[in-house]
Amino acid sequence: MRILSGIQPSGKIHLGNYFGMMKPALELQKIGEAFLFIADYHALTTVTDPAFLRAAIKDVAVDYLACGLDTEKTVFYRQSDVPEVQELAWLLSNITPMGLLERCHSFKDKTAKGIAANHGLFAYPVLMAADILIMQTNTVPVGRDQKQHVEVTRDIAIKFNNQYGEVFTIPAPSIRDEVAVVPGLDGQKMSKSYNNTIEIYGDPKQMEKKIMSIVTDSKTVEDPKDPETCNVFALYKLFAGDEQRRDMEERYRKGGMGYGQAKKELAEMFDAYFTPFRQKREELLRHPDYVDEVLRKGAEKAREEACKTMRLARRAVGLE
Ligand code: ADP
Ligand code: TRP
Repeated sequence: MRILSGIQPSGKIHLGNYFGMMKPALELQKIGEAFLFIADYHALTTVTDPAFLRAAIKDVAVDYLACGLDTEKTVFYRQSDVPEVQELAWLLSNITPMGLLERCHSFKDKTAKGIAANHGLFAYPVLMAADILIMQTNTVPVGRDQKQHVEVTRDIAIKFNNQYGEVFTIPAPSIRDEVAVVPGLDGQKMSKSYNNTIEIYGDPKQMEKKIMSIVTDSKTVEDPKDPETCNVFALYKLFAGDEQRRDMEERYRKGGMGYGQAKKELAEMFDAYFTPFRQKREELLRHPDYVDEVLRKGAEKAREEACKTMRLARRAVGLE
């Protein structure tokens, strides 16, 4: 089974990215052949500062490597090191109906907010389809917000195969219900764009402050509380084992525990969980050559795979 996912280098990694996408992808690397990449071409749809982009690409590489990416099992590369994806995106563009792209949330939401759309934003899902199809991917671990893009990819792949013969494996999204939408400090989906994130490599003291500021209802310490509707509990259960989760649930329902206490315990779990990753990250920052070498080898392997698919695709459409 081939697994593939990508992350944009567009800011600091938060709990939503980690539990929604990175951790599931890293777990899948145990059962299949994983391809993970830095979606730097995609980042150009939002990032316009070259210095920021350059730094963000380096950051995200280190961030990933520090949280359990096994370079023996996973091909880790930069999207722009595989220019064949652009060629495939063009082939796919010519069979992609406008209507399919007009229906995509990524495009609809931005234009609804009055952001002037350019062609890059409109064609974003076609490039994403090229990323996925060029590696003959079976499974794409993502958060729920990316589900539609994987469905568009399936539609494009089916259409291409019908029109030109079987070239592409038809992929499916892999979305874990329990982490499909990790809530942010304010209870909305955690997202860089909502400014409600807890960054996994953020300064521990600052992150503790953020955790203490998570929005709750106004129940007093004595009141029984509902864990199901509480943002603090939603984050707590991402870290907790079964027993810890049940114990916390009971304390919520019984009353006698304030939200402050639950937040404090969440902050402790957060810290214990990410401290080893933070240390690994510090070490990697001292060895930039190692990180460059991992990406160079990843690019080599990724291109080899991409070129195999491109030979089939070029032949299928009549370019060869
Ligand atoms: P952001 O919304 O902060 O800009 P991205 O769009 O860069 O995050 O998301 C990168 C990956 O992380 C995607 O696979 C996305 O589905 C996942 N992801 C982002 N935020 C969340 C969240 N709050 N819950 C679950 N998954 C998320
Ligand atoms: N669009 C994804 C995001 O914003 C990133 C991405 C690009 C991706 N290409 C991909 C994810 C291919 C999975 C598969 O999060």
